[in-house]
Amino acid sequence: MNGMFSLSCIELINVDTILNYSELINEFYMKKTALLLGTSRQKGNTSDLVQAIVDKTGLTVYDLKDYNISPYDYEHNNIDDDFIPLIEKLLKFDHIVFASPVYWYSMSAQMKTFFDRLSDLLHVKKELGRKLRGKDSSILSTGASPVAERSFEETFINSFDYLDMNYKGMYYCYCDGSFSENEHKHTIDKFIKKL
Ligand SMILES: Cc1cc2nc3c(=O)[nH]c(=O)nc-3n(C[C@H](O)[C@H](O)[C@H](O)COP(=O)(O)O)c2cc1C
Repeated sequence: MNGMFSLSCIELINVDTILNYSELINEFYMKKTALLLGTSRQKGNTSDLVQAIVDKTGLTVYDLKDYNISPYDYEHNNIDDDFIPLIEKLLKFDHIVFASPVYWYSMSAQMKTFFDRLSDLLHVKKELGRKLRGKDSSILSTGASPVAERSFEETFINSFDYLDMNYKGMYYCYCDGSFSENEHKHTIDKFIKKL
């Protein structure tokens, strides 16, 4: 009887079932977490790190290079550029991962412009700003210093704090030259495990 039972279980767990499970896992990650990439190098260290994670998880990436987001304007004359549509996409996720290299002890200019524009959500699009509250946030980064400079992470942490977002941590890859997935396997696995 026991033998018959286990045999039918084995029959049930066929290739299609396994494929469905992996699709479900990917769908779960995809719904939950979005990656926002901001770097000056299209095929560089930070995009390689992001790609290595996407290959393993299927996470959705929004690359700031694909969006026309102009610097903060006190008059909000740029409110119709790509910032609000991008925010609306990001707000569909529970966890936003900010991926930026360290440039001059801080985030990339692309990421900084994005953060400056979050001020639009404090003044003109307040209902969208409120939706950021309670979302999870993390940082993915690469840099040429063995340890990321404190100012880099601090700017993010202070901003998340101001926006009432929960900060889950930073995953930093020291790149002495170009990014190597093997070298940073531990950091990548740690990041994925925390998703
Ligand atoms: C303009 C610029 C400024 C940089 N400033 C720093 C820095 O302050 N600290 C650091 O650790 N690395 C710094 N670096 C090195 C980059 O962070 C590192 O090479 C990173 O992996 C590059 O990522 P990317 O290929 O995505 O641009 C700087 C690189 C550039 C181009």
